[in-house]
Amino acid sequence: MAEPVISARGLRKVYGDFTAVDGIDFEVRAGESFGLLGPNGAGKSTTMRMIGGTLDRSGGELTVLGMDPADHGPEIRAHLGVVPQQDNLDEELRVRENIVMYGRYFGLPRSYLLPRSQELLAFAQLEAKADAKVGDLSGGMKRRLTIARGLVNEPKILMLDEPTTGLDPQARHVLWDRLFRLKEAGTTLVVTTHFMDEAEQLCDRLIVVDHGRIMAEGSPRQLIREHSTREVVEVRFGSERNAQVVAQLEGVGARNEVLPDRILVYTDDGEAALEEINRRGLHPITSLVRRSSLEDVFLRLTGRTLVD
Ligand SMILES: Nc1ncnc2c1ncn2[C@@H]1O[C@H](COP(=O)(O)OP(=O)(O)OP(=O)(O)O)[C@@H](O)[C@H]1O
Ligand SMILES: [Mg+2]
Repeated sequence: MAEPVISARGLRKVYGDFTAVDGIDFEVRAGESFGLLGPNGAGKSTTMRMIGGTLDRSGGELTVLGMDPADHGPEIRAHLGVVPQQDNLDEELRVRENIVMYGRYFGLPRSYLLPRSQELLAFAQLEAKADAKVGDLSGGMKRRLTIARGLVNEPKILMLDEPTTGLDPQARHVLWDRLFRLKEAGTTLVVTTHFMDEAEQLCDRLIVVDHGRIMAEGSPRQLIREHSTREVVEVRFGSERNAQVVAQLEGVGARNEVLPDRILVYTDDGEAALEEINRRGLHPITSLVRRSSLEDVFLRLTGRTLVD
């Protein structure tokens, strides 16, 4: 198999006596779309920043494109596109100038940057806003501009930290489409997210992280197959009754999870399980049969929900 473009072994980050990244191992292959899925504080941004060379690691081994970020930061960054969790656009500059000035940091000539910025504005569907002030853009437009800017140096690896947090569903779908095109064109994507649907849409393979550790690794499908059942029945009996009813659901599915607002019944046949629930005279206020998702995987692995 080809050399990994990113390789981490026992990667650690310690802040004082707090361990943010606690010895994680992973590899990212060229052209792959790799995800870090985990809740707030899991250590996703910390890991991304160590890869990007903007944060020193406390321990372990890390190579990016065969180089150690501690020794070869600038060489690595020349081939990396970075989209940080918080947009850090220059609000003083116009939209196009943000891309051009960013390219200047890489020492790229204006003769290259002017046509390149035009291409990127088209890619980000921001041509009509080329001369607008950044402050006048919507959140989704700013996010697309940050991504366009991150592509100015034609990176081999694009690092996206929470690319669609705060965007409406339509803006998210536009972004997913753009990222999918980049992947088709051969760019390696590294994405962090706490949205399981985003991970399912974008990632060929992912690690589920919690408290700085890897809980599981695989494709979305593998993870669901290994850690959940085919289907889930969600039933609501009212917050007062959920805890009391769960005893009467014994044996309906392979197992149950009681959440504050609903009970999840894990089973390979949701319709049959729901029939059995009704046959037992339990009559939920609402019920829903759905396929298992990464959310269920996360719940199984950590006992907590991912998005609250
Ligand atoms: N400079 C710092 N000093 C001390 N603790 C820090 C620092 N930066 C991050 N941390 C802590 O490290 C942990 C991991 O933070 P990180 O930002 O990597 O999480 P995350 O997975 O990106 O979360 P989110 O989904 O909220 O973005 C958190 O508990 C955070 O408080
Ligand atoms: Mg983060």
